[in-house]
Amino acid sequence: MTPADHGNDPLPPRVVEALRCSVCGSPFDAAGRTLRCENRHSFDLARQGYVNLLHARIPAGTADTAPMVAARADFLASGAYDVLAGELARACAAAEGLVIDAGAGTGYYLARVLEASEASGLALDVSAAALRRAARAHPRLGAAVWNLWEPWPVGDGVASVVLNVFAPRNGPEFHRVLRPDGLLVVAAPGPDHLRELGDLVLAVDERKEERLAGTLGEYFARTGRTEVRRTVELTPRQIRQAVEMGPAAFHLDRGGRRERLAALADSQRVTVSFTVSTYRRTG
Ligand SMILES: C[S@@+](CC[C@H](N)C(=O)[O-])C[C@H]1O[C@@H](n2cnc3c(N)ncnc32)[C@H](O)[C@@H]1O
Ligand SMILES: [Zn+2]
Repeated sequence: MTPADHGNDPLPPRVVEALRCSVCGSPFDAAGRTLRCENRHSFDLARQGYVNLLHARIPAGTADTAPMVAARADFLASGAYDVLAGELARACAAAEGLVIDAGAGTGYYLARVLEASEASGLALDVSAAALRRAARAHPRLGAAVWNLWEPWPVGDGVASVVLNVFAPRNGPEFHRVLRPDGLLVVAAPGPDHLRELGDLVLAVDERKEERLAGTLGEYFARTGRTEVRRTVELTPRQIRQAVEMGPAAFHLDRGGRRERLAALADSQRVTVSFTVSTYRRTG
């Protein structure tokens, strides 16, 4: 099966079991490419294989746009963050049943976790452009469009692992959807991530880890923390993608970023730095 074929499969059975109707909270039955609850609310899978469960408008600038997603997909396919994917697959070695990736983007990391396990995966993201790709990333991956700041359309205690990579963190929902023995795996950029690119990228918030601990503290206790740090050589094309796939993409017209990116001619050695933290539920 080629990767492009997975998007035409119906959602994996474990994903259907875990999802809940976003109107009334009831479980779904899958009939072909339609999810239907007992109250007759129904949601059709998009042609590209994901299901959109949203019924509220999303503020502009929340979802990654199609050009950002294309830049991210190409950048990740170049292998520049392969080291992080490997670390996440290791951290998620206990994955079984269902893994939920909150803010999954193109599904690159979730697919790596699924490859290393027998689990199925649910990719949640508010960007349909991203989930078109995620739905094709692995045969055991199902993708649903949702706003992570709203209560998730997912049952209680359905996941052995929740994965969260550079994406919004909703502590109460992480806690609710995880099994009591479940594991939360959070990846965040380190303070010197891409530092050689200066203001082409947006600065990493130095107090991010502190804030992360604050957000999760009520619900989780940290059980591990690994730093992943490498120097990689990025081509001008990869540098452009690294900028265009991130939040700086919303500000390309400021500070001459667009012109500076277009003028890049040489490869550059750049620091990539991440922290991968694992947490267990408290209570
Ligand atoms: C920096 S990207 C990371 C994507 C993926 N985890 C990766 O590392 O390749 C952040 C992702 O979070 C998604 N996102 C942002 N706000 C969101 C929200 N409120 N609900 C769901 N997804 C959101 C974006 O659409 C985007 O795909
Ligand atoms: Zn319903």
